[in-house]
Amino acid sequence: MSDVVLRERDGPVAVLTLNRPDALNALSNELMEQLVSTLQELDRDDDVRCIVLAGNDKAFAAGADIAELARSSAIDLYYQRRIERWDAIRALWTPLVAAVSGYCLGGGCELALACDLIVASESAKFGQPETGVGVIPGAGGTQRLTRAVGKSLAMDIILSGRFLAADEALAAGLVARVVQEGEWLDEAKRLAQEIASKAPIATRLAKEGVDRAYEGPLQLGLEYERRLLYLAFASEDAKEGLNAFLEKRKPEWKAR
Ligand code: CAA
Repeated sequence: MSDVVLRERDGPVAVLTLNRPDALNALSNELMEQLVSTLQELDRDDDVRCIVLAGNDKAFAAGADIAELARSSAIDLYYQRRIERWDAIRALWTPLVAAVSGYCLGGGCELALACDLIVASESAKFGQPETGVGVIPGAGGTQRLTRAVGKSLAMDIILSGRFLAADEALAAGLVARVVQEGEWLDEAKRLAQEIASKAPIATRLAKEGVDRAYEGPLQLGLEYERRLLYLAFASEDAKEGLNAFLEKRKPEWKAR
């Protein structure tokens, strides 16, 4: 298997880099398989507290691999369980930061949206141009983009195929931070270290709570959040964090 997903580690932060630069990191079946299995492996490692998912300067990913799609039938896609594989990303416990520079299109935009948050370079361009090649965003784009930016802008992006610049994406709430070209990966890594420095159990539960807000009705989300709070409060780390604050010292997390 070729290395279409590179990985490195800096203490509690793992960085995965999509590595098909000649095809603008188009999401081939091989790439998605390698990406999801690596993410799942890292997710099982309790010492990994945050994951950064990056592309390169020119592209985060320019979408599903069109050459592969063109030679596949619907039944091929069905048997490959291509889209089902994306559910595994949603199920990850470990916070996942997308570091986006350049093209972030089609399945690439859907992949960034499936991460917990996006750090973007000023050069980033977001889009769902699928209708231009006769298909539709099929890995969550019609749903997640609409929830992220609202109906009207989602319709504009999906129906016209226009690309959203980084500043527009920031204003619309699609991305969390925009930084100068050349800074995007360092900023994402810095943010990931910051996330990784917080109480591990509380961080996972807080992420789960935000996902609920994004996925369901408010009242159910509030009830769910309350249960997450009791669970976080029952951890040894909650006692440690609260006491450390009162004793004016740095907390020592045990992930218990
Ligand atoms: N799949 C496969 N290969 C791709 C690709 C993709 N999505 N996007 C780019 N490439 C390849 C090109 O074919 C080209 O390869 P060659 O050098 O071998 O010809 C190489 O990457 C560089 O691309 P360009 O020469 O086109 O680069 P550019 O700078 O002129 O244009 C671009 C950049 C505007 C992003 C253009 O490449 C483009 O429009 N790409 C396709 C974007 C797209 O339609 N994405 C949606 C795909 S469908 C999808 O994602 C389905 C889904 O959600 C389920």
